Amino acid sequence: MKGRRPLNLLIASSEAIPYAKTGGLADVTGALPQELSKLGHDVILILPRYRSLDHSGRRFRPVARLSVAALQGSPEAVIEEDLLQLPDQERSIRVWAVRQDAFFDRADLYQENGRDYPDNLERFAWFSRSVVEVAAFLHRERNWPTDILHLHDWQTALCSVFLKTTDHDRPELKRVKSVLTLHNVGYQGIFPGSRFHATGLPSSLFTIEGLEFYGSVNVLKGGIIYADHLTTVSPSYAKEIMTPQFGFGLEGVLRSREKQLTGIINGIDTGRWNPASDPFLPGHYSRDDRRGKRVCKQKLQEELGLPQKDGPLLAVIARLTSQKGIDLLEAVIPQLMQRDLDLQFAILGAGDPAHEGTLRQLRTRFPKQIGLHIGFDERLAHRIEGGADMFLMPSRYEPCGLSQLYSLRYGTVPIVSKTGGLIDTVVPA
Ligand code: ADP
Ligand code: GLC
Repeated sequence: MKGRRPLNLLIASSEAIPYAKTGGLADVTGALPQELSKLGHDVILILPRYRSLDHSGRRFRPVARLSVAALQGSPEAVIEEDLLQLPDQERSIRVWAVRQDAFFDRADLYQENGRDYPDNLERFAWFSRSVVEVAAFLHRERNWPTDILHLHDWQTALCSVFLKTTDHDRPELKRVKSVLTLHNVGYQGIFPGSRFHATGLPSSLFTIEGLEFYGSVNVLKGGIIYADHLTTVSPSYAKEIMTPQFGFGLEGVLRSREKQLTGIINGIDTGRWNPASDPFLPGHYSRDDRRGKRVCKQKLQEELGLPQKDGPLLAVIARLTSQKGIDLLEAVIPQLMQRDLDLQFAILGAGDPAHEGTLRQLRTRFPKQIGLHIGFDERLAHRIEGGADMFLMPSRYEPCGLSQLYSLRYGTVPIVSKTGGLIDTVVPA
């Protein structure tokens, strides 16, 4: 922090470990606040108060009440707080969860049984509204003016629109700068144009220069236009999203903001992901003493009902979507099985019901070669990283990817497509 003043950083995300997770976004928004705090900044992380917070092993207590206009539910938002102590540090970060049970007291974050919640626009527009109200409240009542509001993906992108339009003249928000990080341009928050009013924005913003996108509302587009700065999660992906192949229709808008767009590769939490001390692993190992990895492999085979063999054990841990190239994998597995390679697979994933079904069929067909767990299981993800020999990521596109970084840390050779963050992190060997 030499020569620089500590900043007040308000980080808003729709997920963060250890509170709520569906993918890598949560790993990043859980770890980044801690690293920024270690650098001396004062960080508040703000999340929706999902039901999953009750099972996170953390305790929240109410600290404030705010009025946040809502089309549904009560206009009153209760703010609950958890203080997260940093490992080996005096410092802690404040985690604020905004409570609106009508929106967030649900079984999952964005969808159930493969179907998005129909009111996701209302839910995250409200959350974004509440984030801006929290920033105003922190300035007014706690003498904590936000320097930077760090937003992540479409779910919080509207905040930057509010700051530059509806809330532009509010004195307590005047100095707030917003940074929007694009973790995945494949998810833009697109909704029917007839629902634009749910954003809480004036209809004058529903134009081609604003949030209108081929007749629909595009929430991420609004964030890209109005954020003070944009980042994405790898230098290669920053270039890719300005092309039609990877921009999903937003390449033009992104090119118009090229000067404000920076690609920064994600970091990983090397304390949480450490094969020498990982509490979920049955054996521990390091670069110098790899004996524990053998134990991890044997236990993993046992856990997944696979015979104990020495042949290569290949892992896949992924959201089961076309982004991750799961269909390529499904097509190639039967071909690989015909060759005499003595391969085994350890597959963990959840998502598209069609992929879940195909993978189950493959497991039935090759019970001795395929170990499969459909569902979300953080502990098993660690045990697979520890026990496998190689990790497959046949992604069609990959903004950064964290699994290949965890694999590198766990001595599990990543085999990846040549795209996005995978280009920037995996050295061809
Ligand atoms: P993405 O964010 O696109 O899903 P990343 O590679 O950045 O991809 O991050 C994926 C993260 O989610 C990793 O921490 C991985 O272990 C985890 N993960 C994905 N699917 C599952 C699952 N079914 N169970 C447990 N963890 C999972
Ligand atoms: C997204 C991307 C993934 C990235 C993660 C965290 O989910 O798909 O590549 O690692 O966000 O930034």
